[in-house]
Amino acid sequence: MRHRSIAIDGPSGAGKSTLAKALAEALGFLYVDTGAIYRTVGLQAFRVGVDPSDPQAVIPLLKALDIAMKYGSDGLQHMYLNGEDVTAEIRRHEISAFASAVSAIPEVRAFLMEQQRSLAREHDVVMDGRDIGTVVLPGADVKIFLTAAPEVRARRRWLELQQRGQPADYETVLRDVKARDAQDTSRAAAPLRQAEDAVLADTTDKDLEQSLALLKLIAKEHLAHG
Ligand code: DC
Repeated sequence: MRHRSIAIDGPSGAGKSTLAKALAEALGFLYVDTGAIYRTVGLQAFRVGVDPSDPQAVIPLLKALDIAMKYGSDGLQHMYLNGEDVTAEIRRHEISAFASAVSAIPEVRAFLMEQQRSLAREHDVVMDGRDIGTVVLPGADVKIFLTAAPEVRARRRWLELQQRGQPADYETVLRDVKARDAQDTSRAAAPLRQAEDAVLADTTDKDLEQSLALLKLIAKEHLAHG
């Protein structure tokens, strides 16, 4: 049986992971957070101490890199870097910039592509990222471009960091959100952009419940007509 796929792309802090996970649960699909994969490569660059934006330094790391994704009994997607569970560590604030930098390197993207595509071949998936609807799964049954105003996204990220016990200054978070938007949309390799056939979902004025209701509606409509 052909598996169904829902691609959710958008900038950081738009609520992609929370909403994609909830949508996957509601539909009984597997949730795949592709940002976590880039974060794992970013973590390795951080640990080794290389400049994450230097392809000459990052590409050689790929050869010795074993990245695995497993689903725990808690239903969470766990990331393993050379056998070590790094699920919590990749969420650290300083790893975000490393993930963004390594993700601009075409060889890094090519290295991670097959892992993402094979998951979609083997399961019904809700996959979130930056280039899922445009590059990874161009034939996805449903494509959603999820976004919100930068100030709203920064506030959500700020709250999330606080809840994780990693308080940060709001202005710094806003500046980081804007810098990451600029980096993710301006890079040459698979930049963040809305696929032509993606449905735009703007959550600026919506809470989580309203946003999820919107996504369910879009998914239902498109899966029914697929
Ligand atoms: O979604 P996130 O913030 O966890 O993603 C971390 C970084 O990885 C983000 O700055 C951009 C990059 N990324 C990407 O280039 N392509 C994807 N499909 C997912 C993430």
